Amino acid sequence: MKIVGTVKEVREQVKEWKKQGLSVGFVPTMGYLHEGHKSLMDAARKGNDKVVVSIFVNPMQFGPTEDLATYPRDLDHDAALCESAGVDLIFHPEAEEMYEKDFCSFVDMTGLTEGLCGKTRPIHFRGVCTVVNKLFNIVTPDHAYFGQKDGQQLAVIKRMVRDLNMDIEIVGCPIVREEDGLAKSSRNTYLSSEERKAALILSKTVALGKELAKTEKDANKVVEAMKKNIETEPLAKIDYVEAVDALSMAPVEKLEGTCMLAMAVYIGKTRLIDNTLINE
Ligand code: PAJ
Repeated sequence: MKIVGTVKEVREQVKEWKKQGLSVGFVPTMGYLHEGHKSLMDAARKGNDKVVVSIFVNPMQFGPTEDLATYPRDLDHDAALCESAGVDLIFHPEAEEMYEKDFCSFVDMTGLTEGLCGKTRPIHFRGVCTVVNKLFNIVTPDHAYFGQKDGQQLAVIKRMVRDLNMDIEIVGCPIVREEDGLAKSSRNTYLSSEERKAALILSKTVALGKELAKTEKDANKVVEAMKKNIETEPLAKIDYVEAVDALSMAPVEKLEGTCMLAMAVYIGKTRLIDNTLINE
């Protein structure tokens, strides 16, 4: 497994593979890798001859008051996990390699990016789309793997690829959870032990929503029941709980067709997200 820091090195390696007719799978990440990331690498390993992982804490997708400076980093641990997953190449650039001082080109999306996480994180998806587009141009993968954990991000990336005719197949992978249900996240490390217990309210409420949705088709009623459930946890503060269409991210009134029940909840100062698809 190689670890490189420049665009040039990635291009040279991928060109060589493509000359040999090999397919390339790509997993973009911000590092501090866990089993959720590994499940994407496993899927990429199965579906491609070569696997590239990027590890880049992308400054452009963090708001001014967000956790860019404190976002956890551990390259040695990440490299070991990638090695164990059979990754061929890690791209780990510095911010200067990705963004020239006079950088001024962006990928912007309307609609899908405005609700849910876009409400509290207004510049987030612009940063995600821009960096993912750049990474796609650098790695030129055949397939790219994203987790349902960030359900809105997955929908946004799929739409970007469709709208801008990118020749890449986006593969969505299921949410990987801790044994007790908490969705794995690099940000779980921010939680104190008391908060870690309280954080279970997210996965429990997602499960409640999914169960209710088996019989209740009124989206509002399901969402209200979910909100009430979260409010039983004193350390939890709701950012949003919503029922949306799985493709357009538009709010739905009836839980018909494939929908997503999604939430963002503060546990203390840490903002966590979780979701479930219904009528998949
Ligand atoms: P990051 O949060 O590191 O996540 C990288 C990928 O891992 C995303 O596709 C995310 O959905 C997936 N992932 C994280 N936790 C998961 C879990 N518990 N189960 C399944 N998949 C999980 O998402 C980003 O980085 C960035 O926004 C990025 C796309 C790299 C652009 O900077």
